[in-house]
Amino acid sequence: MPTTKPVIDTVKQGEAGVVDKIPFNRPLCWPESLANVAEAAGSGRTAGNGPWSKKCCRLMEDRFGTRRALLTPSCTHALEFAALLLDLRPGDEVIVPSFTFVSTVSAVVLRGAVPVFVDIRPDTLTLDPEAVAAAISPKTRAVIAVHYAGVAADMPRLLDIAQSAGVSVIEDAAHAIGGRLHGKSIGTFGRLAAFSFHESKNIHCGEGGALWVNDDDLIPRAEVMQEKGTDRAAFFRGEVDKYTWRDLGSSFLLSDLQAAFLYPQLERLEEIRERRRRAFEFYLSALQPLSEKGVLRLPSIPADCESAYHTFYIVLTRPHHRDELIRWLRAAGIHAVFHYLPLHLSPFVQKIPHRCIGDLPVTRQTSASLVRLPLFYDLSREQQTRVLERIEAFFKNG
Ligand SMILES: Cc1ncc(COP(=O)(O)O)c(C=O)c1O
Repeated sequence: MPTTKPVIDTVKQGEAGVVDKIPFNRPLCWPESLANVAEAAGSGRTAGNGPWSKKCCRLMEDRFGTRRALLTPSCTHALEFAALLLDLRPGDEVIVPSFTFVSTVSAVVLRGAVPVFVDIRPDTLTLDPEAVAAAISPKTRAVIAVHYAGVAADMPRLLDIAQSAGVSVIEDAAHAIGGRLHGKSIGTFGRLAAFSFHESKNIHCGEGGALWVNDDDLIPRAEVMQEKGTDRAAFFRGEVDKYTWRDLGSSFLLSDLQAAFLYPQLERLEEIRERRRRAFEFYLSALQPLSEKGVLRLPSIPADCESAYHTFYIVLTRPHHRDELIRWLRAAGIHAVFHYLPLHLSPFVQKIPHRCIGDLPVTRQTSASLVRLPLFYDLSREQQTRVLERIEAFFKNG
């Protein structure tokens, strides 16, 4: 059974006394996960691609329909693995959002490829397909679509654009395990997809990730690259009598201890998603009046998308409200946080070759005015009500 202990930390709130703290996130720690870790540790098989890793991978393949799932040390590694697998080379261009985590883009920069930054749609904060179409050049090799907050990017349109240009699509599904678009799992649209099992995600094992390989032609090379460039996987299957160095690669493996911790959460992903959906909907309907007053914008989920409900965010109409609201919530023991700074304006990007399609106004405005509210598996209605009352008081007090 999952632990459903209430949050026990307390925080002094000035002279007003002591109130319960509401964290931004509370990573799952289920007894089944701990029992599995103990079993794995006792078995002596704790390295990568052990029995728990195989169970996790099989579950992902059977349930979500990817051709091959491989566990990686993080989503960052899965993205680097994808860039290596697609043979990205110096001078190749890769179209990326600027409103994303560093890893989406650093994976391609590590291969010497040139990021081409495009803007996002204001409704879903995912890649704007028209901007992607405008960014295609003879040097384009790939497009990386981020499914922000667990909501799918417009994959049919992005795939159309990519296919006409003969370029690959990688999905950065760090936020989106269990989400669907037109009934099909997020992460099964592109040639490759990367997932995160970092402690901040819907399911986690501390640090962790997965690469989904949806193109059969890439599977043999992916198996080799995951095992430091050797054919060790084929050796363990008895297909070769010795294993040797065949290709570029790295140690893109997750320890079986972590896979053992992760497995029960993967098994019960629908239940986790459903809990988060209820909390998300509660925020959404309670904040409708403030949205109608025009002081904030609410997240939007297209009708054909079933979100993974990773993040609940609000976008404030007046950007100066953003930091004030975060401080106002903090003073009441509520941990709300901002999100990505535009990567195209980061100090590092100024030093490397890159292109931008326009000056990315939606990215800049969103980045300056977005606040993420607490959302986790055992967030209670009482806690959500406290968050909502505090937000209402902020706007009432002007
Ligand atoms: C969109 C996106 N991609 C990649 C990552 C990197 O994930 P990880 O911490 O598993 O490397 C993150 C991290 O939050 C992210 O938000």
